[in-house]
Amino acid sequence: MNNKKIAWTTDLHLNFLRSQDLEKFINQVNKISADILFIGGDIAEAQNITHYLQKLEQSLDSKIYFVLGNHDFYNGSLLEVRKKVHKIANASDRLFFLDDIPYIELTKDVALVGHSSWADGRLGNYDKSQVMLNDYILIKEFKGLTKAQRLQKLHELGDDAAAQLKENIETALKHYNKLICLTHVPPFKESCWHEGKISDDNYLPHFTCKAVGDTIRSIMESRPDSYLTILCGHTHSSGKTKILKNLEVITGSAEYGQSKIQQMIYL
Ligand SMILES: [Fe+2]
Ligand SMILES: [Fe+2]
Repeated sequence: MNNKKIAWTTDLHLNFLRSQDLEKFINQVNKISADILFIGGDIAEAQNITHYLQKLEQSLDSKIYFVLGNHDFYNGSLLEVRKKVHKIANASDRLFFLDDIPYIELTKDVALVGHSSWADGRLGNYDKSQVMLNDYILIKEFKGLTKAQRLQKLHELGDDAAAQLKENIETALKHYNKLICLTHVPPFKESCWHEGKISDDNYLPHFTCKAVGDTIRSIMESRPDSYLTILCGHTHSSGKTKILKNLEVITGSAEYGQSKIQQMIYL
């Protein structure tokens, strides 16, 4: 299983594309004949996420390994969207929802792990932050919560992502020395890019998952023989950060209405 050609994308927001631009994006991906398409979340919204995933599945030649982002739950619920995405991915031999999968072998030396993750409110200054994301208005589980209750929910979602990734990374490292981790939310302050700068204390609580960052950093500190690359998105601004000698984060950029390939990865 060597010589893999992978196209990494994130924050596609396909629901904002005109139909001719969606076709253009599909043709672009098919033209490079990638074996695998990575999608780092924010694919569409709750009412059309399965439609767009199935459209990609039917139109692309590549296998699709994906996680979800906060937008994928807009006008729906966390539980229901996960359930329906799980169902279509389970019934498909080309759609792979990484939250449901411990790890995937990419080559005999490299494996993929992934989780959608969620900003956990722990970095920056949540108490003083005036940021009111649409997440807190448009996603069922957040509706009607007080600011303190929202923080509890953010902690819970971040901790779930961290626990799942801890288990999956530790398992994958028993078999592979090189891992790629696909996720939506930047896991470190240093990787939370916004227009060439690091996000400020106002935005960091909503744009980073400290629980995931702490977990991955601690695993990689104990495994200097291994290397892990995190691919994330969510801030729509690109940047590359070296966290440890053996741990790097690449954050992808995005613009609504202009889905694109971030980077080709050749293994
Ligand atoms: Fe996005
Ligand atoms: Fe996002």
